[in-house]
Amino acid sequence: MDADSSASKTALMVCAYRARASRWDKPLFIDPWAEALAGSDGHDIAKRLDARFPPMEMWLALRVAYLDHLVDLAVDRLSIRQVVILGAGYDTRAARLPRAGVRFFEVDHPATQASKRERLAKLDGYPVDAARYVSCNFEREDPIDRLAANHFDLREPALVIWEGVVPYLTEAAVRATASRLATGLDPRSLVAFDFVGKRLAEGHSLSDKDKQTRDYVGELGEPIRYGTDDVLPLLVDCGFRWVRSLDFNELALEMLGDYKRDRQFRFQHLALAAARTPVAGWP
Ligand SMILES: C[S@@+](CC[C@H](N)C(=O)[O-])C[C@H]1O[C@@H](n2cnc3c(N)ncnc32)[C@H](O)[C@@H]1O
Repeated sequence: MDADSSASKTALMVCAYRARASRWDKPLFIDPWAEALAGSDGHDIAKRLDARFPPMEMWLALRVAYLDHLVDLAVDRLSIRQVVILGAGYDTRAARLPRAGVRFFEVDHPATQASKRERLAKLDGYPVDAARYVSCNFEREDPIDRLAANHFDLREPALVIWEGVVPYLTEAAVRATASRLATGLDPRSLVAFDFVGKRLAEGHSLSDKDKQTRDYVGELGEPIRYGTDDVLPLLVDCGFRWVRSLDFNELALEMLGDYKRDRQFRFQHLALAAARTPVAGWP
């Protein structure tokens, strides 16, 4: 997003999918705030994507559930007490996953953050003070400097969740941000992010549905700009020395107990990265 962009529409869209996934018979997570936060505008944007990309709700649900689980793992197994949500959109983890002594920081483009705070203020009972709000445009600002200016403790480790953001950034911003996370955070920190493959990012040899999906987010004003089929070299270049890549079919197998080819998880990936091995044998 550029400096003068309006609030992210894709953030409202994924918020609507979180609301829908929260209503499953056997939900992988429950976000009690998503329905009201997404509003009818968020649901309309999501409905228009459904025809183009039916697996979106399932993909989102797996991603959210895995990253929620990672918060618990980081707190319980890595003794982490700072959780940073980069490009937070309408994320509600600070309210949904409070843990004693754990501080949440939500970092986002100023336009999206302002819109979120307006929507939160209208919600009855939402604990707005559960997170500290830090504005940052990743295309031109340094998230570590912005965090440090907002009471983040650089001497303590953090879990950084960078969910649904990397595809929308230029490669330069992805590299600059990842480099700062690798070198500016305490080395016990862990970074988790999702990304898409190169074909989707570049628009080459796509199925009709994948092309329509790519075009749709572009029409929302948030074109997909970056994707890779080879994330390890990028992360090593940026300074990370421990990397794990995860596949959504494997996550579905673990969380839902089956494999279905027609879920169409062709271009989505998750990565974990740290400046050194978090703990032996983990995760
Ligand atoms: C698809 S939304 C994901 C929101 C949230 N992480 C989630 O999963 O619900 C994309 C997010 O990336 C943020 N974003 C996009 N470009 C950005 C930039 N240049 N600087 C900061 N944030 C950016 C948007 O503001 C938005 O919150």
